[in-house]
Amino acid sequence: MTTATETLISPELMMRYGKLIYDVTGIRISPQKQALLANRVRRRLKATNIADFEGYLRHLQKLKPANAEWDLFLQEITTHETYLFRDESHWTWFQDQYLAAISQEAIAGKRPRSLRIWSAACSTGDEAYSAAVCVAACVKQMSPWTIKIIGTDIGIGAVEQARQATFSQRAMKLVPPSLRTRYFTAAEEPEFSKAKPELSALVQFRQHNLLDPLREQPFDLIFLKNVLIYFDEASKQRVVANVLKLLAPGGYLVAGAAEGISDHLKNLKRIHAWLYRNE
Ligand SMILES: C[S@@+](CC[C@H](N)C(=O)[O-])C[C@H]1O[C@@H](n2cnc3c(N)ncnc32)[C@H](O)[C@@H]1O
Repeated sequence: MTTATETLISPELMMRYGKLIYDVTGIRISPQKQALLANRVRRRLKATNIADFEGYLRHLQKLKPANAEWDLFLQEITTHETYLFRDESHWTWFQDQYLAAISQEAIAGKRPRSLRIWSAACSTGDEAYSAAVCVAACVKQMSPWTIKIIGTDIGIGAVEQARQATFSQRAMKLVPPSLRTRYFTAAEEPEFSKAKPELSALVQFRQHNLLDPLREQPFDLIFLKNVLIYFDEASKQRVVANVLKLLAPGGYLVAGAAEGISDHLKNLKRIHAWLYRNE
């Protein structure tokens, strides 16, 4: 008898998997990644006791992408790699220039005392919490502001982990020591840190697919980093159109250096390779 782990996947079936993944997530599985995909799917066959690739594909097609098995499947094919204060230059700009400038503008009565930030494809929430740390560190000058930082991700498991607000020491490695002691405590799990309630009060997390519009008011600042690398041009365009609809006039987009979306951002002012303004 053939077991799930021995089952082979035909090129035709691989194409059907590729199409399903593309339709749901926007991610293109390159021919080089197909062997990897087969191994990853094989793990799900084993876990679900489904005998073959055809059966598992039909199973996925019957389920809604919000289903837990879809989430486990997506976890196999997407990368959730993230950590606090990833890309130091982005956070230096955010803290020293952006937050400083908007507080000055508010003092001069040129903008309301409110700040709305979206971490799009937030994975386990590290980017949203990095923003929260910087905002909280400015809060004396910024009080009483209305702050809303939203993190969204297609992965339900990632969003649930983000809501826990616990971070491994690896994820915390770039958090400056003074901010670490000020805004985090030891979590129940050894070697993990937990964000203090004053930080968690600033952030919210929600499951959301970037191929769909997000129902929200415009944001002053949007982070869109390390997600579109495996998307083709059509999906990038769809995501960027959804994202830009929610970028307020004068708002900033922080994009990953490898995102490959500069062609889709021609209507914004390019400030750095990773920073754009909606003028
Ligand atoms: C590498 S993480 C990036 C995390 C964070 N932005 C950073 O730069 O550290 C990529 C995330 O994109 C999410 N993702 C992939 N396709 C998506 C889609 N269509 N809509 C929303 N999130 C998606 C994955 O679930 C994963 O958590």
